Amino acid sequence: MSGVHVAVLASHNGSNLRALHRTSLSPDSPFTISLVISNNSGSGALAFARDAGIPALHLSGSTHPEPELLDAAIRSALTAHETDLVVTAGYMKKLGPRTRAEYTSRIVNVHPALLPRHGGKGMYGNAVHEAVLASGDTVSGPTVHLVTEDYDAGPVLAQARVPVVPGDTAESLAERVLVAEHDLLPAVVRRLAASMSHTPTPHRRPW
Ligand code: GAR
Repeated sequence: MSGVHVAVLASHNGSNLRALHRTSLSPDSPFTISLVISNNSGSGALAFARDAGIPALHLSGSTHPEPELLDAAIRSALTAHETDLVVTAGYMKKLGPRTRAEYTSRIVNVHPALLPRHGGKGMYGNAVHEAVLASGDTVSGPTVHLVTEDYDAGPVLAQARVPVVPGDTAESLAERVLVAEHDLLPAVVRRLAASMSHTPTPHRRPW
């Protein structure tokens, strides 16, 4: 497997995983998806990964009831697959401290609003879009940022702007933002992977 190894963590549908996978298949892609982890054994993300022949693991509070052991299992799966970069794409759980420490500045998350607006604990899925609509904001859009200890608080790498239109529901806004995520996230991962692959190993951390 060539290029920068990207592990994707996803909880549900996995449309961002599919967008990343499409990008990874282009002949000049600087990255490959080397592992998919989901906390949800029935997720679309795991089903897609298995169909696509990507190593896929279900690791959750049901496989590892102790949070410390779950954190250790995720960290060791990432290590075993020689992960360079971790992407949380619709992953509805917080990564544990050992995994965050091992991959400091190498964990990227996509959030479906323009951080620092509408982020933080409990802000995921439709709750985010409902908050955007309730605020009266006329623009929303995805943010790709580095993961730090606090929810949705790490440095922003990129954002895309999407209009909020009269009559929008959380579902219609979510759909429009998701389309923008499918461009933004692969573009950022591609850029990061390209800069990592030009940095000599083993310390390929350009940022
Ligand atoms: C995406 O909109 C992503 O931004 C959001 O969940 C959706 C997952 O879609 N993530 C969060 O709300 C986390 N704060 P997908 O499973 O189809 O990629």
